[in-house]
Amino acid sequence: MIGIFDSGVGGMTVARAVEEVLPERSIIYFGDVARAPYGSKSPATISRYARQNCDFLLAKGARVIIVACNSAASVAGHLLQQEYDVPIMEVISPAVAQAVRASVSGRIGVIGTRATINARVYEQEICALKPAAKVFSQPCPLLVPLVEEGWLAKRETKMIIRRYLHPLRARSIDTLVLGCTHYPLLAHLIKPRLGPHVQVIDSSLAVAHVLKKFLVDNPTLADSLAKGEENRYYVSDLTEAAQSTARRIFGRPINLELVQIEK
Ligand code: DGL
Repeated sequence: MIGIFDSGVGGMTVARAVEEVLPERSIIYFGDVARAPYGSKSPATISRYARQNCDFLLAKGARVIIVACNSAASVAGHLLQQEYDVPIMEVISPAVAQAVRASVSGRIGVIGTRATINARVYEQEICALKPAAKVFSQPCPLLVPLVEEGWLAKRETKMIIRRYLHPLRARSIDTLVLGCTHYPLLAHLIKPRLGPHVQVIDSSLAVAHVLKKFLVDNPTLADSLAKGEENRYYVSDLTEAAQSTARRIFGRPINLELVQIEK
């Protein structure tokens, strides 16, 4: 199984992308709804949660794990890759590679939660690939709750997006990375605000394509992954908001199964 975890159900944007790119593969998803949001928590707490989430997915039969949560990937991605024997993929490197390819001017914007922006991983990885790049980062802490409320077309959401994007527009970026699970659901408001000359990078699709290539390059691993089994979606709390966000992301009702993972 392909294991995917996130702080909540926003990471289902990654599950949806994996489903689209690798339709024959089976997914096991864990959304840590009970302990979300991660984006406002400390690196130590996020790392502890991330380890527990990996342990859960491995116990359920995952052979490769995608850290769909940008906050967890920023803070604990490298740590998990060192500690676990299975391949751990995350959403940041694929998005960075795509952004660096897309940007002509090298002026790249990144939006994310406070945890993600404070970790500065996007900045470091972009500059490692393109030393002349200028990275402009903007934390957007209000966007996750707006998506969870389903405020995807409200005037207030547009106003907040305008406010957050203003400094990035002023820096004349030509590429913007959506560095958070929830932001692809606001892409229809973000893109017009920036104009057609700015490329918007959605990390969910980027990581799904990297996984596809990884499986081609690692056929033994690919063979060990279950095919055709039903995808399972586990959550640590079953809330109405989680159910409606999951439905919104997939465009169909999703059967969320409640599990207790904290020992
Ligand atoms: N999944 C988180 C991320 O991508 C957003 C929600 C949260 O803060 O937990 O950063």
